[in-house]
Amino acid sequence: MNRPLPDVQYNFRPGIIELKAGYPDVTLLPAEGLSQAAQVVLEREAFQALLYGAQQGPGCLITQVKQWMEPRENYAVPPEQMLITGGTSQALDMLCQMLTQPGDIVLVQTPTYNLALRLLREYHLDLIPVQSDEEGIIIEELVERLRELEQQGRQPRFLYLVPTFSNPGTLTVPLERRKAVVELAQRYTLRIIEDDAYCDLWYESPPPSSMYSLDPDGVVIHLRSFSKILAPGLRLGWMLASSELIQQCAMRGVFVSGGGANHFTAHVVAAFMELGLLDQHVDTLRARYRERRDILEQALSTDLAETCQWSSPQGGFFLWLQLPESVKSDALVSIAKLEGVSFLPGTLCFVNGGGENFCRLTFTMAPPDELKEGVRRLQKALYHYRKHVSSHHR
Ligand SMILES: Cc1ncc(COP(=O)(O)O)c(C=O)c1O
Repeated sequence: MNRPLPDVQYNFRPGIIELKAGYPDVTLLPAEGLSQAAQVVLEREAFQALLYGAQQGPGCLITQVKQWMEPRENYAVPPEQMLITGGTSQALDMLCQMLTQPGDIVLVQTPTYNLALRLLREYHLDLIPVQSDEEGIIIEELVERLRELEQQGRQPRFLYLVPTFSNPGTLTVPLERRKAVVELAQRYTLRIIEDDAYCDLWYESPPPSSMYSLDPDGVVIHLRSFSKILAPGLRLGWMLASSELIQQCAMRGVFVSGGGANHFTAHVVAAFMELGLLDQHVDTLRARYRERRDILEQALSTDLAETCQWSSPQGGFFLWLQLPESVKSDALVSIAKLEGVSFLPGTLCFVNGGGENFCRLTFTMAPPDELKEGVRRLQKALYHYRKHVSSHHR
């Protein structure tokens, strides 16, 4: 039988409440606003938008992003330090191509975004984890790793971290620790790749300014994405880095031959921002996702507070749930599937083991009723898991 070819990446399964993928609520995708913006572009600037675009990205989007960022970051973003990208994954992939050789060392804050790990592994890098506490990457650990490597005469190519409403945990590195990490990086001439996919999605108060703003034109490469604040299908984001690195990127064959990343989409998003729709949209996302976060936490407090622990996510998409010590979340996945709920097992977010009794729950995708039911199903799955394990130990 011929099955229809899929249009979207995630395999939604009937009967399963999906708490696994880092997806937005599909009802919040801004189709109407994007349609309005696309119309403006096609009526007003069709030829600019439909030609090969400037390699660094179109001036109209660079200008809009600059205006969007500046009040939040408290510094003037020089346009020559910005490149429009095809999203964070594309930017990270490009940086791996440009900055690494197989066997090179890359430091990674753990736990971390599981698919960044997957991408880094494709470049056959020697990934060295640096552990986090509730305030992010542990400075003493980072110093120790850097000293060990220096003694061995090995220079890490970069440090990858997600400092704001991190994925999978939702910790945010406070300003003092941001400064300490940047100072260390300067001392050891270590590049930092700061993946800041969630910084605009804060639910209590805005996060500290980026690590990039602490050393513009220096050691930090700052990656941003429209995936979480607009729509992942746009494949659009931006990168801030030293003017020298931005120039090197813009002169890569892929941009010289093909023009800037996703040029037409970049025009549409610029028009969306110019119409003032991004501010409105992000305000709506914050309100809705805050509500979902509260509903998930309420459900966890009712059904799982005696066995599980978590800290309240202050932003982003996820809640990082600590299961009882004896529970292996890799094994819990299949029992949860039978109960009709999915989650991301914690081990996928670590480099060399760890996170066995953690799972990542997405609170932005499922509607409120499903979130509550999902937690009930998780509770049942845990009950069956423990019954199963204890019957094996008898
Ligand atoms: C931390 C982090 N970085 C990057 C991405 C992907 O970004 P993009 O869609 O721009 O490639 C995600 C998506 O889940 C993420 O959580």
